[in-house]
Amino acid sequence: MSLTVLALETSCDETSAAVVRRDGDRCTLEGLAILSQDIHRIFGGVVPELASRAHLETVGPVCDEALKQAGGTLEGIDGIAVTHGPGLLGALLVGVTWAKTLAWRERLPLIGVHHLEGHLFAPVLEDPTVQPPFTALLVSGGHTMLLDVPAWGDYQLLGATKDDAAGEAFDKVGTLLGLDYPAGAAMERLAAKGDPGRYTFPRPLLRGIAEEDRWNFSFSGLKTALLRAVQKCDDVDAHRAHLARGFQDAAIEVLVRKTADAALEYQRDLVVLGGGVACNRALTVAMREQMPAGTRVAVASPRLNTDNAAMIGAAGSWRLASGQRHDSTLEARDSLPLPGLAHPTGAVP
Ligand code: KG4
Ligand code: ZN
Repeated sequence: MSLTVLALETSCDETSAAVVRRDGDRCTLEGLAILSQDIHRIFGGVVPELASRAHLETVGPVCDEALKQAGGTLEGIDGIAVTHGPGLLGALLVGVTWAKTLAWRERLPLIGVHHLEGHLFAPVLEDPTVQPPFTALLVSGGHTMLLDVPAWGDYQLLGATKDDAAGEAFDKVGTLLGLDYPAGAAMERLAAKGDPGRYTFPRPLLRGIAEEDRWNFSFSGLKTALLRAVQKCDDVDAHRAHLARGFQDAAIEVLVRKTADAALEYQRDLVVLGGGVACNRALTVAMREQMPAGTRVAVASPRLNTDNAAMIGAAGSWRLASGQRHDSTLEARDSLPLPGLAHPTGAVP
């Protein structure tokens, strides 16, 4: 039986709406609108108050656009899915309030979706064979998590970052090197021009570490190492690409090594990469080259890896199809545990 949802995502600085149809494991994207708020660029980071105001202005037109692409009306919509956390509270509130109102007015079922569960579902939109069990690496601006996923909704957290998220580290190092926020994509372009042998930065928590940190990550020491190198360098302009390359190589080596070890240890032949940093081609190429033999790596295309409502529709339609619903008491939450998250290693900070 098919199920079509209208999904909303307003957790940070993208206002997005999508129409997603689910038939069994297959998700078809019927409409998607993503409006990125460029205003934050000039502040070097997302300004929460400005983000909420921009969401308020654009959430209606963005929903209309997604519906228009899908055929025009709410007629064929069977449910409403919305990101209800984690994220910026004021920004989340706009999407949650809009979704609740629409669900009430149209008498449609409502489902709140965890933002990171959305990132996990993104590759399904392009390849229905991406299904558990798998090993997952979630790398975004706010989170870095290594998971074993035996089934949808069953998330075994192996490790996470002890300080900065991977995307946050790319952004901070990028800012140090004079790039605009968010710097991830520009860092990748800069690193591609850099010489890999010029700077060798530490690979944090990779070798000779305590068992409890086996699956954890840490990026703040790497960021400090880069800062020291910048301070010592007498011609930063001439070395920017080499510095970016040194940083990117170190970050990628740690992410790839731990993911490969987890796939091997948990005997998974599928690895799912999700979150904005999964847009990084050098990361996905290294993942594909270095996974254990016979392991497939699934990554969504860049538009579906960075924040968007299609992934929320994919996750929300799975929850609705399995009979779950929220009511009008659904809350927006700035911090929210991933539903179904377990800590089997007990080692996560
Ligand atoms: O998942 P996302 O869109 O938002 C969050 O949920 O945080 O991820 C945004 C993050 C930013 O830190 C951005 O710099 C990073 O993803 N990013 C990248 C690349 N494209 C986006 N990092 C490295 N290389 C990229 N190509
Ligand atoms: Zn995200």
